[in-house]
Amino acid sequence: MRIGVFDSGIGGLTVLKRLVKDYPNNEYIYYGDTKNLPYGDKTKEELLAFASNIIDFLISKNVEAVIIACGTVSSNILDILKNKYNIKIFDIISPTIYYINNSTYKKIGILATEATVNSKIFSNNIYKNIKEVPCKAFVPLIESNNGSEIDKYIKIYLKDLTDRDLIVLGCTHYPLIKDKLLKYLNKNIKVLDMAECIKGEFENYGVGSINLYFSKLDDNVIKNVSNILNFTNYKLQEKKLYNF
Ligand code: DGL
Repeated sequence: MRIGVFDSGIGGLTVLKRLVKDYPNNEYIYYGDTKNLPYGDKTKEELLAFASNIIDFLISKNVEAVIIACGTVSSNILDILKNKYNIKIFDIISPTIYYINNSTYKKIGILATEATVNSKIFSNNIYKNIKEVPCKAFVPLIESNNGSEIDKYIKIYLKDLTDRDLIVLGCTHYPLIKDKLLKYLNKNIKVLDMAECIKGEFENYGVGSINLYFSKLDDNVIKNVSNILNFTNYKLQEKKLYNF
């Protein structure tokens, strides 16, 4: 199956990695919009313009389905995109909400981008005690590997979540700093990566290939990709989309 996957940058690779592990025979086309990130501070109109360009590109590569590996796009414009395109579109937030509502966890903490928190997707659909924390600083710091600043913000963002039994990484970039987050949290708090929730939804056929495209590809992105994907059989290239 040929599947398109996209995000604002390297965050969606945490989803891609999981998909490749579970469905290795599929042909993956990944698009990371590194030129326009972060998405977390964008308006719905801007997100729609970026996502439409990316989906048009993925469709031009003959994908059979698109996975929005971005919490911000999933939470803000999923319905608009589903109405606009005939192709199957999967998001990352709905399976996460399903997982949370069907779990035994009672006190839920959610770390997400500002745009995701402002969309109220979690607060309107989770029937449990929830606390949400918008983490504006994380995505740019994760993309630029600024470890000491990340530590500083982890203390600030986790401060009010120590009484939770589940903490949801509501942005696909955050699993990239999971080790750092775990150091600040009591061991009995479960930290949930949204990629864990999408298991079991896809088919698995094809020649098993991975093509990665980024709107801005520099040495930093190349290094991040090789650190995140611990396999080497991928092709990486820069691809600017026409009107952004
Ligand atoms: N990884 C994305 C998300 O899940 C994008 C975050 C951003 O670019 O601000 O929300």
